[in-house]
Parts: sequence; structure tokens; C-alpha cells
Amino acid sequence: MHEDIEKVLFTPEQIQQRILEVAAEISRDYRDRKLMLVGVLKGAVFFLTHLAEALEVPVQIDFLGIASFSPGKALPGVVRISKDLDLDIHERDVLVVEDIVDTGLTLRYLLNILAGRQPSSLAVCTLLDKATRRLVDIPVKYRCFEIPDRFVVGFGLDYDQRYRALPYIGILKKDIYH
Ligand code: IMP
Repeated sequence: MHEDIEKVLFTPEQIQQRILEVAAEISRDYRDRKLMLVGVLKGAVFFLTHLAEALEVPVQIDFLGIASFSPGKALPGVVRISKDLDLDIHERDVLVVEDIVDTGLTLRYLLNILAGRQPSSLAVCTLLDKATRRLVDIPVKYRCFEIPDRFVVGFGLDYDQRYRALPYIGILKKDIYH
């Protein structure tokens, strides 16, 4: 285990097992539909890759980059699109793939933008859900794990661009994360 990690929350095996279960649900729900996975950069890349591999329905994949206006946390949820989608989502069944939903503010902003492009359907699949921190109501259709209000890293999630490549999800030690 990395020395900055206080505790491993989910091992690679637990993550993979849960992704298989959620992928089976999605495959059932989206049979005969035009599914497009929209991954939010960069955190969702690891999750999206494993999820897409496990799906039993054909998918298109695209990515959306977002950047916070305020690198500090003064204005949470105030974001801008730093890389737009390459594909047209009009009349597609869009599943937004996120690494974590915390307050829900970022996702609310993204969902508003995507809804304006008139997809056939728009839903959210997240790896982690800090449901107790939610400030706005977000329709999360699929979630792998609900987690407590602690700062976590690994399997795509970062702190200051570090720890993304850890194969597990762990709680970051408090003296590292201020
Ligand atoms: P929200 O707008 O509050 O839902 O926060 C969304 C973003 O905050 C996520 O996409 C992450 O980038 C970041 N975030 C929130 N909690 C964590 C965490 O525990 N670890 C890493 N990033 C987090």
C-alpha cells in the first residue's frame, strides 16, 4: 500500500466484481438502444475503460473535459468545458460516466448542457457516490459504491493530479490532504 494511504476501501478485485454487476444491469437496460458512454476527464477514464469492456451491448465512447474556474474551492460547481465531445449526442442514449459524485454541482452543470443537445435519454453512472454530501438532487441511475465523507484516491481519482494510477481506491491520509 502507498505510504500516503490511510486505508484501502476497495481492492482491485472488489472494484472489478462490482463493475461486472453494474455492467450486467446496463447491458439489460440498454439492449437494442444506441448507447453512448460519455466519460468525464480525467478521473473517469479507468472506470469507463473497465465498464465498456464488461458491457454486452455495442457502445460509442466519447470524453468531455471540464476545468474548474476556481482551482481553490471558493466556487464549487463553477466549471467550464475544456474539451467538448467529438460526437453528436442528438437522439442517442447517453450515459454519463463519472468517477465520483460529491455535492452534485459539477454534474448538474454538465447534465444541463448535455440535455440541451437533445439526446434520446440521459442518465448517470458513477463509480463512487458520497451521497451524504449532496447539495443538489442528481438522478444517479447506476452507482458502484456509496462511500463515507472522506477524501479518496486511486482507480482514476486524484489529489493534485497524483495517485490516479493506484489500482485500488483508498482514503488519503489527513496530513496529505488539507
Ligand atoms: P461535486 O461537484 O461536488 O459533485 O464534485 C465533483 C468533483 O469533485 C469530482 O468529479 C472530483 O473531481 C472531485 N472530488 C470530490 N470528492 C473527491 C474525492 O474524495 N477524491 C477525489 N476527487 C473528489
